[in-house]
Amino acid sequence: MNYSDTEIVLSVLSDSGYNETSDIQDSDVILLNTCSIRENAEHKVYKRLDDLKKYKKANPELVVGILGCMAERLRKDLLDKKKIVDVIVGPDEYRKVPELIDNAIDNGEKGIAVKLSRIETYDDIVPLRREGTTAWISIMRGCDKFCTFCVVPFTRGRERSRRLTNIVDEAKKLHDEGVRDIWLLGQNVNSYKFEDHDFPDLLKSVALAVPDMRLRYTTSHPYDLSTKLLETMAEYDNICKYIHLPIQSGSDTVLKSMNRLYSVSHYMDVMLKSREMMPTIGLSTDIISCFPGETEEDHKMTLDVVKNVRYDLAYTFVYSPRENTKAFQMKDDIDGDTKKRRLEEIITLQREISTEIYKSLIGTTQRVLIESRSKKSEDFFMARTDCNKVAIVPKEILYVNETGELINKKCFKVGDMIDVRIDRANSATLFGEPVVH
Ligand code: 5AD
Ligand code: SF4
Repeated sequence: MNYSDTEIVLSVLSDSGYNETSDIQDSDVILLNTCSIRENAEHKVYKRLDDLKKYKKANPELVVGILGCMAERLRKDLLDKKKIVDVIVGPDEYRKVPELIDNAIDNGEKGIAVKLSRIETYDDIVPLRREGTTAWISIMRGCDKFCTFCVVPFTRGRERSRRLTNIVDEAKKLHDEGVRDIWLLGQNVNSYKFEDHDFPDLLKSVALAVPDMRLRYTTSHPYDLSTKLLETMAEYDNICKYIHLPIQSGSDTVLKSMNRLYSVSHYMDVMLKSREMMPTIGLSTDIISCFPGETEEDHKMTLDVVKNVRYDLAYTFVYSPRENTKAFQMKDDIDGDTKKRRLEEIITLQREISTEIYKSLIGTTQRVLIESRSKKSEDFFMARTDCNKVAIVPKEILYVNETGELINKKCFKVGDMIDVRIDRANSATLFGEPVVH
């Protein structure tokens, strides 16, 4: 979401004559787009602000801005306590970024814009995207679910959705620009509602408008992930068979205290149904360990869900108390050692399961989309399966004759969709050789 928001801010700034620079020493303005979801995310930003002090010292004219959820949450406090910060802009006021920067540059004034909106969706702004095969389209903003641990409803405000036809047009435009893979983004995409259209309607419209593009979405809430959505996913080949569905806890007591609005058995039904309808589906989740009041029994129930679902991947966090949320009033009553142990137990179990799942694909052929250069090696690409598994593949295959002489070679490029025979795997990555037909 923050990456996608940054593309909106870049677009607004570009329209006002600002250009991006890759050289931090050369910049007149530095903006940090921030996240408040856990304390750790905010620590990272504070550390980053400390790192920026040297640039401000070298160039006192430098304008430093904080955008996003931390701006919304901490507001003037941040401006008062962190002298280095000149501009603070919350998630619904990005249109004001150029004006506030201009004001800081021209008049040396500090500026703040943190009003939340019930209507702002940036529907008319074309995000300034980096080149690549993958693009995000933000389809809705905000969240009305009010999970008791979560700061998002306070930092990003009420739910609102973009016009369906504008999202479809954006997908078509991206198609024409060479994008091959689209992620539809929202805090809870299942709450998408525009006029009479719900999320499955939107997904279907985009799937039909760009039939040779891969389509994915994130994030879903188990409460309102409908059978209609699963049917739509199953019906269209270009909708990737992948669902990220945060469970948060495997205990009904904890889920109730989190205000998650579903039971473990409802969640398991959704998982079962999705596997029945799409047998190869990739599944991932988010888990919060050690929510206030979580007992050893509750923790074991979370481990049971992990065992029973057999996710491909789980993002696991220790509960982090967030001011203003309901859970902030509850006693964060689990000691540090227990927190560490419970988190480790979930991570270890999930790693074993992921390893088994990934290794079970050795010997199979997977269709992958090449997305980018591999981070670890110049000679390899990073590609992704339909079910969202990462595969590392060589950039080219060489054909040699019996005497070892090179007789031909086939090179691949970013954006190619190829078949790969998997010959190795670990808990998070597949490795394989392209199959040439
Ligand atoms: N503490 C720990 N994890 C949290 N998340 C959201 N709020 C908190 C919190 N206060 C996690 C949830 C959510 C993911 C994006 O971040 O698991 O699904
Ligand atoms: Fe936060 Fe819950 Fe909304 Fe997700 S659904 S953004 S966890 S309040």
